Amino acid sequence: MSGVRVLVIGSGAREHALLLVLAGDPQVTALAAAPGNAGTAALAEHPGLADPSSGEQVVALARSWRADLVVVGPEAPLVAGVGDALRDAGILCFGPTAAGARIEGSKAFAKDVMAAADVPTARSEAVDNPGDLDAALSRFDAPWVVKDDGLAAGKGVLVTSDVEAARRHAAAVLENGHPVLLESFLDGPEASLFCVVDGTSVVPLLPAQDFKRLGDDDAGPNTGGMGAYAPLPWAPAGLVDEVVDTIVTPVVTELAARGTPFSGLLYAGLALTSSGPQVIEFNCRFGDPETQVVLALLRSSPSSLFLAAATGRLAEEPAPAWSDGAAVTVVVAAEGYPGAVRTGDVIQGADGPGVLHAGTRRRDDGAVVSSGGRVLSVVGTGTDLDAARADAYQRLAAVHLPGGHHRTDIARDAAAGLVAMPVRA
Ligand code: AMP
Ligand code: GLY
Repeated sequence: MSGVRVLVIGSGAREHALLLVLAGDPQVTALAAAPGNAGTAALAEHPGLADPSSGEQVVALARSWRADLVVVGPEAPLVAGVGDALRDAGILCFGPTAAGARIEGSKAFAKDVMAAADVPTARSEAVDNPGDLDAALSRFDAPWVVKDDGLAAGKGVLVTSDVEAARRHAAAVLENGHPVLLESFLDGPEASLFCVVDGTSVVPLLPAQDFKRLGDDDAGPNTGGMGAYAPLPWAPAGLVDEVVDTIVTPVVTELAARGTPFSGLLYAGLALTSSGPQVIEFNCRFGDPETQVVLALLRSSPSSLFLAAATGRLAEEPAPAWSDGAAVTVVVAAEGYPGAVRTGDVIQGADGPGVLHAGTRRRDDGAVVSSGGRVLSVVGTGTDLDAARADAYQRLAAVHLPGGHHRTDIARDAAAGLVAMPVRA
């Protein structure tokens, strides 16, 4: 297809990163973001969308704006069936159906699919009755991993060596009406592998690493992600192929066999353990903030790749091409994040190089102000991780958000050669 009009649904730094690579794609002739943010307005039209999770509204917008392709960024619209509504309307969509999105929407469903496909993951037990909690906890050892079996964007998980804290968190999740998932603890470095999938074929992108904890040296609570880098200089050459062969392809094959093929972006969140890569979670969409670094290194056409997935022609599509260097992103969060945040602070330097917007909006007087928890994602690139890290932090130094905070150690250990694969058992 030439002259492609692309509509991106969402308003975070992930969507800003998607719009940035699409804007540099010669095949893309028009871009729209809905709802978008203060940063995406420079790259894309903002036609307006009241509810990104309304299939009816997204279809109406895609029709009126004459979109050739709709790329759905966040999971909530996909879980709500926006991908189905677009397909039913005959509009090409990069993003799975609601049935495919269950791989993220229900952790219990994901475990069932993995068991059927013989994919390595943590042992787990679902608990839906507070009376069963103590007995279930006693069947696991420290550290305990307690998850909310509902959508919590990585924030519903507690990993703790304090069994009392594990019990309190599980009880709170149950009180909220959600089932609890207890899991065995997976050791080893974490990695995120994004795969473009068309129902049957799997095309991996560069592996990345995310920093989930709030503070330096992984102190503090889990967040949506405070920074990321790609690629992984410490990963062996065969890692991506091993993950595709032992994890992603079996899951894609199992979903197709169940009559609910997955088409879109399948994100494998992995622990690289001494017994090989194991799944921590699947997501049905691009990860945030890993997308910001993976796409910063993409050199081939993103619209060709997404269209090939949406039309079931991935096997014919050339493999994506990548820069030789590295990319690092550092998230700037608002005061209070990941709890209740302060918004409305004026941001200085928000239009600087490498600054992707997440929770921002432009005030009537032109000032860019904070409007969410993760406010900005500053991206740096370089010939290696050290150079990319220096670039990201130099760019960050020109940005100021009152009360804002960020981690100072993103990619530090990897750049210093301190991250290693565990020895295989
Ligand atoms: P999730 O919401 O499943 O992505 O979990 C968020 C974070 O909690 C992960 O990125 C890991 O750091 C941690 N985590 C989740 N499950 C496990 C597990 N079974 N073992 C060790 N860490 C885990
Ligand atoms: N970076 C974690 C996520 O997108 O879920």
